Amino acid sequence: MSISYFLSKQLKRPKGVFGFFVSLLMNKVNKPMYTKSLNLLAFDTKDTVLEIGIGNGKFLNSIAEKVPNGLVIGIDISPTMVFVSRFFNYKLIQKNKVQILKSGVENLKIEKNTVDKILSINTIYFWKNPDQIMNELYRILKPKGKLFLAFNSKKEMIKSGYNPEIFTFYELSEVENLLKEANFTVIESSYEQFKIEDCHCIIAQKNA
Ligand SMILES: C[S@@+](CC[C@H](N)C(=O)[O-])C[C@H]1O[C@@H](n2cnc3c(N)ncnc32)[C@H](O)[C@@H]1O
Repeated sequence: MSISYFLSKQLKRPKGVFGFFVSLLMNKVNKPMYTKSLNLLAFDTKDTVLEIGIGNGKFLNSIAEKVPNGLVIGIDISPTMVFVSRFFNYKLIQKNKVQILKSGVENLKIEKNTVDKILSINTIYFWKNPDQIMNELYRILKPKGKLFLAFNSKKEMIKSGYNPEIFTFYELSEVENLLKEANFTVIESSYEQFKIEDCHCIIAQKNA
C-alpha cells in the first residue's frame, strides 16, 4: 500500500493511534474553515446544530459556545473518532449540550424540520449518493435553516495527490447543482486560499 493511499484512507476514516494523530493534523489544517463556518452561520443561541464528520470533535465546543441554550449533534462514521471526540467533549455531553453519534451521513435518523444549522468540513468527498444526502439534509432542516459546506478545490486535490479512488473531487458548480436539485437556495459561495489549503465555502438555505 502506498503512503498516499494509506493517508487518504486515514483521512476518509481515521483509525487507531495513527488515525488519532491524523485528526490532530486536521485540527490545524482545517481550523480556518471552522472559523469561517462560525463567522458565517449566524447562530441563534437556541439553535440545534448538526456537524457531519466531526473528526476528533475539537471544534464542537466552539459551536456549543455559540448556542448556549441549544444543542450540538456531531456524527462520524469512524469508531476511533467517536471515541476520541466523546473524550474531548465529556463535560458538554454530561450537560446535554453536545451529543455524539456513530453514524454515516447516509443513515441519519433525525426527524424532519428539527435542525437549524448543518455544517460539514472536508467530508463531502466521501459521501455515497450525495444527491440523496442533500435531499435528506433538506428534509431535516427547519424552514430557512442553513447548510455550510467547505471543501478543497478539485485542482488543489489533484495537485496534492489525493487518491481519486478514495476521494470524489468536486468543482464548486457541481456541489451548487447538487444543492439546487435538492431545492436549496445557494445564498453565498466563496473561494479562499488559506496558508496550507484552499477552500470553497457554500452556504445554502432551505426555503420557508
Ligand atoms: C478529512 S476528515 C475531516 C474531519 C473534520 N471535519 C475536520 O475538518 O477536522 C473526514 C471525517 O469525516 C468522517 N466521515 C467520512 N465519511 C463519512 C460519512 N459517510 N459519514 C459521516 N462521517 C464521515 C471521517 O471519519 C472523518 O472523521
